[in-house]
Amino acid sequence: METKKTIFSGMQPTGAITLGNYLGALKNWTSLQDEYNCLYCIVDMHAITVRQNPAELRKNARNLLIQYIAAGLDPAQNIIYYQSHVSGHAELAWILNCFTYMGELNRMTQFKDKSSKHSENINAGLYTYPALMAADILLYNTDLVPIGNDQKQHLELTRDIAERFNTIYGETFTIPEGYIGKVGARIMDLQEPTKKMSKSSEDKNATILLTDKPEEILKKFKRAVTDNVATIKYDPENQPGISNLISIYSAITGKSYVEIENEFSGSGYGNFKIKVAESVIEILRPIQQKYDELQKDKSYIDHIIKDNAQKANYQSQKILRKVQKKIGFPSIIR
Ligand code: TYM
Repeated sequence: METKKTIFSGMQPTGAITLGNYLGALKNWTSLQDEYNCLYCIVDMHAITVRQNPAELRKNARNLLIQYIAAGLDPAQNIIYYQSHVSGHAELAWILNCFTYMGELNRMTQFKDKSSKHSENINAGLYTYPALMAADILLYNTDLVPIGNDQKQHLELTRDIAERFNTIYGETFTIPEGYIGKVGARIMDLQEPTKKMSKSSEDKNATILLTDKPEEILKKFKRAVTDNVATIKYDPENQPGISNLISIYSAITGKSYVEIENEFSGSGYGNFKIKVAESVIEILRPIQQKYDELQKDKSYIDHIIKDNAQKANYQSQKILRKVQKKIGFPSIIR
């Protein structure tokens, strides 16, 4: 029997998922779940690299887990769990920190961005974040990591760390491949379409959240920044706003950019924006319904949290012990 390959990916529980998170990552996760053994993590340990309110972090983590399931991840088929419930992440991260160079961490664009945004709190965790992310991935001998474009640099570093370790100690880690969708891998901010859509945006009109009501979604798309070229054409250089709307529509409908350009040739921006908004409303409608239902089922969610943490813990021990042995940690005497 051929064994299935392994997928690992995660999101930070720092608020409701954005349309970028959904189209760049979560939507692909749901379509890959049958072919792979998948672990989908709520990376609360990564989240504390930026100061969090404890009650909100706890709430956001639970809501994120519910959003994963509402979006279509089957908790019986996938391991959906909190990172902080599996101590192997922290243990392997420490080891990998010792195989990661400061020169590499200095080059990480997410570190540069976040440290400029949080100049009052440039902590060591923010700096070594990529080693923890490498640990997340390598802890399960992951083959494939479905992510948006902005995480590509971290994945490349993960591969370098894994190769470095394997060169020194012999084959230990599987070298993971990234899975970045052809469309939707970089959804842009609706107000500043040269910037990626992000939860942390100050401007509420810039970001569509998975939990936004239909009227809010429509309003935000109507206000989306476009240009005065007055043609619906995929040209990110000269028409970043319209190109972003085209890529959103393409990721949702599966239509190519050319098909969309043809469909809307001669149409005004106003009409196109409404069509894009409607496609987003329709794709989110069942997710939001399921989300509301799941919120009421406390014991079902608690059961998933407990059961999946156990499964992840069990799986993580195998590779962790192997790594500890290879580097020379004495075995535990039982
Ligand atoms: P995070 O929480 O910032 O984002 C979660 C996922 O959403 C993708 N994404 C986007 N895709 C398209 N357009 C956008 N505007 C957009 N914004 C975000 C991200 O690329 C990501 O796939 N470091 C990770 C979390 C993480 C992780 C991991 C991921 C921790 N350990 C191991 C994969 C494997 C992060 O901060 O993602």
